[in-house]
Amino acid sequence: MKIDKKEVLKALEHITVPGEGQNMVEAGAVKNVQIFGDEVEIDITIANPSLQARKKTEVEILKIIHSEVYEKAKIKINIKVDAPAAKPKVNEIKGKPIPGIKNIVAVASGKGGVGKSTVTANLAVTLAKMGFKVGLLDADIYGPSMPIMFDVANEKPLAVNVNGKSKMKPVESYGVKMLSIGFFTQPNQAVIWRGPMASKALNQMIFDAAWGELDFLLLDLPPGTGDIHLSIMQAMPITGAVVVSTPQEVALADAKKGVAMFQQDSINVPVLGIVENMAYFTPEELPKNKYYIFGKEGAKHLSEDLGVPFLGEIPLVQSIREAGDVGRPAALQTATPVEEAFEELTKSVVQEVVSRNKSLPPTEAIKITTMAGCSAVKKK
Ligand SMILES: Nc1ncnc2c1ncn2[C@@H]1O[C@H](COP(=O)(O)OP(=O)(O)O)[C@@H](O)[C@H]1O
Ligand SMILES: [Mg+2]
Repeated sequence: MKIDKKEVLKALEHITVPGEGQNMVEAGAVKNVQIFGDEVEIDITIANPSLQARKKTEVEILKIIHSEVYEKAKIKINIKVDAPAAKPKVNEIKGKPIPGIKNIVAVASGKGGVGKSTVTANLAVTLAKMGFKVGLLDADIYGPSMPIMFDVANEKPLAVNVNGKSKMKPVESYGVKMLSIGFFTQPNQAVIWRGPMASKALNQMIFDAAWGELDFLLLDLPPGTGDIHLSIMQAMPITGAVVVSTPQEVALADAKKGVAMFQQDSINVPVLGIVENMAYFTPEELPKNKYYIFGKEGAKHLSEDLGVPFLGEIPLVQSIREAGDVGRPAALQTATPVEEAFEELTKSVVQEVVSRNKSLPPTEAIKITTMAGCSAVKKK
């Protein structure tokens, strides 16, 4: 049996290229077809680099040739992946770096109450324990909690003179320099008033503060994916974002939105990864017993689905809550499973920051421009 090349090509016209609506011959994906008796060798180039897409294309080709051309044809398929070059980013212009601050890591969550502030506070003290210079900016206008978590609720940042300019001096606790929106707003003030004040206060806390040299400035963002996030991302070049979620379905759905917010073209802040907080409950006296009260490994699976790193899991432990309430983050304990969990998490975050800085240009602050009545987001 001699196979006809034309027939092979005609058969291949039945296979469409996903997303293009064209068949693979039209689309130019078929680079070469060679026939040796009952053997067919086909060279294909496809744009989708996933193994699944390659397998799918292979299976389709085998099927169609066996059914339309010759059922006993021996088929060899060489697939080359030719992923389109990453879309040129329109917005790749330098933002306003903050002198002396090496990395700004935003901690976000879609949903409130998942432990974003707890994770941020413990990340901060763990980084400080590791010897990094750490700052923490509490930008959560809905519920600034850092002053309490760091036992400085009664303090106010002082003014200092830096090169003839008056600057705000962060409050220092457990080796972490801290400023909080809570120092500037009244707890009983309506959120709608806190919004505009927050933007102004945030700008001051970022640019008119005497942070000095920092390896990391952590940002405790408000929950959700709203305007306030945009205004923060306009103001500062964020190195990367950490998204906190519990394993629970409702929290995961919101965490997904959080990841999407950072990844949208106009914002484009690299997501360093996802943290699973309250991953399981463990009683302090029986640390081997784990109870998956919010579900098991939900955040881990989400990170796999979204293709972002999984940074670690933090158990639900009574002492973490108590430590937060008394103003001494739990990670300050020594030689406990809690300290260890935060240490593992912090190491992954540092690792992701390092590899992010190797592979990507600095993130620029974004700027909103109004075009024909609709607002588009653009980098400065
Ligand atoms: N891993 C944990 N174990 C025990 N309690 C936790 C844990 N994470 C957070 N909490 C508690 O849950 C509550 C909400 O946490 P918080 O960090 O304020 O959440 P968010 O900032 O996301 O609103 C706080 O009372 C906190 O102490
Ligand atoms: Mg909070």
